[in-house]
Amino acid sequence: MSAQTQPTKPSGLAGIVAGTTEISAAGGAHNLEYRGYSIYELAEKAEFEEVAYLLLKGQLPKAAELSAYKARLISMRDLPAGLKAALEIIPKDAHPMDVLRSATSILGNLEAEGAGLSQEDVADSLLAKYPAMIMYWWHYTHNGQRINCTTDAEGMAAHILTLLHQKAPSALHERAINVSLILYAEHEFNASTFTARTIASTLSDFYSAVTGAIGALRGPLHGGANEAAMELIERFSTAEEADIAIHRMLKNKELIMGFGHRVYTEADPRNRVIKEWSRKLSQEKGDMSMFDVSERIEQIMWDEKHLFPNLDFYSASVYNMLGIPTSIFTPLFVMSRITGWAAHIFEQRANNKLIRPSADYIGPEKLEFVPIEER
Ligand code: COA
Repeated sequence: MSAQTQPTKPSGLAGIVAGTTEISAAGGAHNLEYRGYSIYELAEKAEFEEVAYLLLKGQLPKAAELSAYKARLISMRDLPAGLKAALEIIPKDAHPMDVLRSATSILGNLEAEGAGLSQEDVADSLLAKYPAMIMYWWHYTHNGQRINCTTDAEGMAAHILTLLHQKAPSALHERAINVSLILYAEHEFNASTFTARTIASTLSDFYSAVTGAIGALRGPLHGGANEAAMELIERFSTAEEADIAIHRMLKNKELIMGFGHRVYTEADPRNRVIKEWSRKLSQEKGDMSMFDVSERIEQIMWDEKHLFPNLDFYSASVYNMLGIPTSIFTPLFVMSRITGWAAHIFEQRANNKLIRPSADYIGPEKLEFVPIEER
């Protein structure tokens, strides 16, 4: 490569406005708003299904609309027999995100969009089925048990924990998951949502867009950060141990998962909500050690790098205290973010233009083709 054609540091499209949206606003004076509503109010006062309705249909539901919507989701919770059979052949040591990616794709064959199913039907069906998709596979491969995919739980938060633990959660635990689902539901043009929109922009089907989004979410720079954060936090039993190790990691220029954000510069607005839940659950458990370790890491990251925790960091300890296995953390993100992805697929389709940017070519030019025997 010649001197003039050295690749420049990749920008990752940072700061590039890639389109318009009515679904959420992140950063600046907005902090984070879903269709104009502050996430602080939604996290404190709403049920996850209310937020799902808001994102998917554009406004908050009235009481009767919410009950009808919840009843619709409940009616869609069970999995088709073909999907259960497919889940049973996925090995126990598969990553749960790969399980969800494949399960989404299989459902796309069993219940294809268009064959009597509208995009709204597919979105609601995925939202209703994700908890059972992961938990059916989990219990079958880990406990040899074919669980019932439906539960008595009225809402998604309790449904998830009931499927996992095979018993109804406490009100506090149900509320903690509910808040987490609300905070994870939507976030503007993040990598997985942009992937979904790019796929939708080719006029591909709904399941393809979601399958691609799951692939993008899986990576540790995006949704996979909550698992990576847990793996880091649980290495330490005291704040002092964390202190020594994090300083060493920073010296070695290692990334500390769960810190930093492309859009925010001073704080992730969702952090203060989830952090309080981490504190609350630690107090309930009567064991502050994981919280203390997390807070010490937060302090060091701020002092040394001016970096702040993003939503994934304290979500890790929250999920851990709810008895959720670490490898199911990112699938929980999917169970919530399907609402944001779906809203963006609808929006893309309603005013579509193929997403196809250009690149600056920096490779060699005008080379003479040399026949194979002369190379
Ligand atoms: N740990 C250590 N250093 C970090 C860091 C982290 N979590 N996040 C950013 N930095 C450093 C970078 O190394 C870079 O340093 P440099 O200027 O010396 O090269 C500087 O901060 C700027 O970061 P940059 O990588 O340019 O930011 P970005 O906008 O490209 O990346 C993330 C944003 C989220 C990908 C990045 O902060 C990160 O990798 N975080 C960890 C993964 C994570 O938590 N992801 C979930 C996001 S919600």
